[in-house]
Amino acid sequence: MRILVTRKLAQNVVEKLKAQYEWDLDIWDFDEPIPRDELLQRVRGVNGILCLLTDKIDAEVLDAAGDSLRIISTMSVGYDHIDIEECKKRSIRVGFTPDVLTDSVADLAMALMLNAGRRIKEASEAAKNGQWTYWRPYWMTGYDLTGSTVGIVGFGRIGKAIAKRLAGFNCKIKYYDVRRDEQAEHELGVEYAELEEVLLTSDFVTLHVAPTKETTNMINKDTLSKMKNTAVLINTSRGSLVNTEDLADALSQKQIFAAALDTVNPEPLPSEHRLYSMSNCLIVPHIASATTETRNKMGLLAADNLVTGLNNQPMPKEINI
Ligand code: GLV
Repeated sequence: MRILVTRKLAQNVVEKLKAQYEWDLDIWDFDEPIPRDELLQRVRGVNGILCLLTDKIDAEVLDAAGDSLRIISTMSVGYDHIDIEECKKRSIRVGFTPDVLTDSVADLAMALMLNAGRRIKEASEAAKNGQWTYWRPYWMTGYDLTGSTVGIVGFGRIGKAIAKRLAGFNCKIKYYDVRRDEQAEHELGVEYAELEEVLLTSDFVTLHVAPTKETTNMINKDTLSKMKNTAVLINTSRGSLVNTEDLADALSQKQIFAAALDTVNPEPLPSEHRLYSMSNCLIVPHIASATTETRNKMGLLAADNLVTGLNNQPMPKEINI
């Protein structure tokens, strides 16, 4: 078996792959993503690929790999970087890493809600810049998460994990999803609403839908104009859900109160982009699953998916294509 691993990964992940003694491993052993031309060249004749969300696995890469390619295992829950239709046509099975990162992503979404609602970025800058002259009763006032209405857009694993955390904040929770989940409504005390109602009535709107043609730019000039001007927008899903320039306009015109983004479009967002200089916009660099424990679990699961897949066994986590 010939395997391509597209990034330097943890030692225990590499050991798991090396334990398949008959495998011939080609590891792009660097912190930087594999350049496109290297990918196209090294992929020739491989049977399996362990890739990351920075690697675009499209028809060109699949063609370059040829008929030998049977398994793609991505160390991510998202798989919008992989052309699933093309994989299906060629009977290539694809593994991914859901579940193991749910709690870390939900924790980060909570951190972003609290940060943006309470103006932590702006307040920290103010303290550092000498604006902290004395305690002032109405300075740096923000919005409580406690007791607020939170709109969860996309009610899958991560959306539900957020609803569980919010139980401690006494929030009213509304969710929108293409599928209604009455059992979860009952168990988690959440209410189903159409997207428009979620946007119109929520104090915090947090995005957890998968990036598809339908969800591209779902947050745009029009949908932003429906949100309260005291509302906070959180995105830990994919940047493509939000029209970046429309959001920047809405934030500068105070059409909404604040945004906190773990994912943006494009990624990375160039450092000169106006969003970084806005006091009501907090951007972190796609770190929602970045805890040591979670990234270890993701790496090991990606390796397990590859090993089982190439041994013609069911993968622990396979995309149903
Ligand atoms: C991160 O964004 C992932 O898809 O795992």
